[in-house]
Amino acid sequence: MTSEPLTKRADHPLTAPGHEWWRSAVIYQVYPRSFADSDGDGIGDLPGITARLPHLVELGVDALWLSPFYRSPQADAGYDVSDYRAVDPVFGDLADADALVARAHELGLRVIVDIVPNHTSDEHDWFQAALAAGPGSEQRARYLFRDGLGEHGELPPNRWRSVFGGPAWTRVAEADGSPGQWYLHLFDVKQPDLDWTNPQVHEEFVSVLRFWLDHGVDGFRIDVAHGLVKAEGLPDWEHEPEMLEGTDSRFSRPPYWDQPGVHDIYREWHQVVAQYAGDRVLVAEAWVTPAARIADYVRPDELHQSFNFPYLVTAWEGPALREVITESLEAMGSVGAPATWVLSNHDVLRHVTRFGFEAGTALPNGIGLADSQPNHEVGLRRARAATMLMLALPGSCYLYQGEELGLPEHTTLPDDVRQDPTWARSSHEHRGRDGCRVPMPWAGDSPSFGFGPSHNAWLPQPSSWAGLALDAQRTVPGSTYETYRGALRLRREHRLGEGELSWVDGYPEQVVALRNDDVLVLANTGRTTVPLPDGAQPLLTSVPVDLSAGLPADVTVWLPAR
Ligand code: GLC
Repeated sequence: MTSEPLTKRADHPLTAPGHEWWRSAVIYQVYPRSFADSDGDGIGDLPGITARLPHLVELGVDALWLSPFYRSPQADAGYDVSDYRAVDPVFGDLADADALVARAHELGLRVIVDIVPNHTSDEHDWFQAALAAGPGSEQRARYLFRDGLGEHGELPPNRWRSVFGGPAWTRVAEADGSPGQWYLHLFDVKQPDLDWTNPQVHEEFVSVLRFWLDHGVDGFRIDVAHGLVKAEGLPDWEHEPEMLEGTDSRFSRPPYWDQPGVHDIYREWHQVVAQYAGDRVLVAEAWVTPAARIADYVRPDELHQSFNFPYLVTAWEGPALREVITESLEAMGSVGAPATWVLSNHDVLRHVTRFGFEAGTALPNGIGLADSQPNHEVGLRRARAATMLMLALPGSCYLYQGEELGLPEHTTLPDDVRQDPTWARSSHEHRGRDGCRVPMPWAGDSPSFGFGPSHNAWLPQPSSWAGLALDAQRTVPGSTYETYRGALRLRREHRLGEGELSWVDGYPEQVVALRNDDVLVLANTGRTTVPLPDGAQPLLTSVPVDLSAGLPADVTVWLPAR
């Protein structure tokens, strides 16, 4: 018995008639610092990425999304941009960016780049000019400068807190050296927030979009897309911010997330991108919940996709997974947008590690030596099963570099090598995100595991990664890498990204049982083996297992649907 299909894209009134590539694409996130280092300085770079593009073709993805490689003091690993039209020398130059895009296109891969519109670096010309020009100037009006409270302006304008910890306001010294105004930074002190009520800010970002579109990129991932507009008057809010808070009905919404005004910006950007041929795509990093609010970002005249963070944070539990999948498909379907799916990125604990803890465990923001450690074996098995469930879903999937190798978080990084500003700004309470950003292991026997030509790696790689390196898994049947490849090949062959999902009845609650066109997918999140249909011949299993007694715990299988 199957339910009514949940995605009737073809006859949805809002669905564009075309089959834009991004509706069903698998998009691979490259974190430039950590992908491949061509010059041996220990930091990945654009020529390194270009040289490794054949890996993405072999893996079988459609596109790559590059985290920022723009000129930046690297206070937040490049999410602090000082020149949006230049490549940071640590990553190469503009010619290297052009070469990367050209090579990717030759290989049939699309390229999405990051854009960071909520804040600039404090080393951006605009911010330097704002400091020099002083209170009340046109230059200051591009940022959120305010006078302080208290008799001498010695108190911040309100109690907003930075996402990385500490106050979200910093006081500047005026040109004569006297203590002056305060500026808002929702993130690091080196990331001043722009004022999106200022038309100059709009014009500048339209121009930056055009700059990179003219350089041939296929789209943009919009950093902190839900944060650009702040509530009028900057009303007070005293709580610690979470990225995924505020739109959940359990919380009231902070005055800086998901404000209605953000949608005007995306309508403007939609028009810009629509002038370019080739189905360019805009994808939001909007930590917004529930799915119905995410759908607002992908209405027909706004963005094309938004990351599905409610899916990312869902535990490995059948009922919860069914619920989030249904909600996502319905909400995005209601506006004619594809659902998206994601399990890992450069800001969260890798899913191998998350699933290595009991469901319901409150996980810290970063794990260190003294913290309780995950069960790696269980985590990897569940992560592979979760990935095979994800890759069976209609819509677009995002992969994060290294997950195809089954990389866990580095959970025992020495504290003195940490670079995420979260660690210092939270007064060493939250270790932050370095553990998911450790350079890729390509070759188990080489220095820096083949990340670069030298031993250098900006974060140390665990010695256990020798066995996870690409060359230890490539062509090895049943390896994590070959399983990803197999799933991506079958996803393409069976057109699962464009398919329709129906739930299948008759299985225990802990089994996620679905049909996507001609494929039956069973993901067993429970503790016991469950019977399979008679004579079932698997297309693929998430780990090599004997299915003669049924489907074991923490395994996903794809079968021909009958
Ligand atoms: C986004 C990025 C994150 C960065 C933050 C500030 O959440 O993904 O890495 O620190 O924005 O730009």
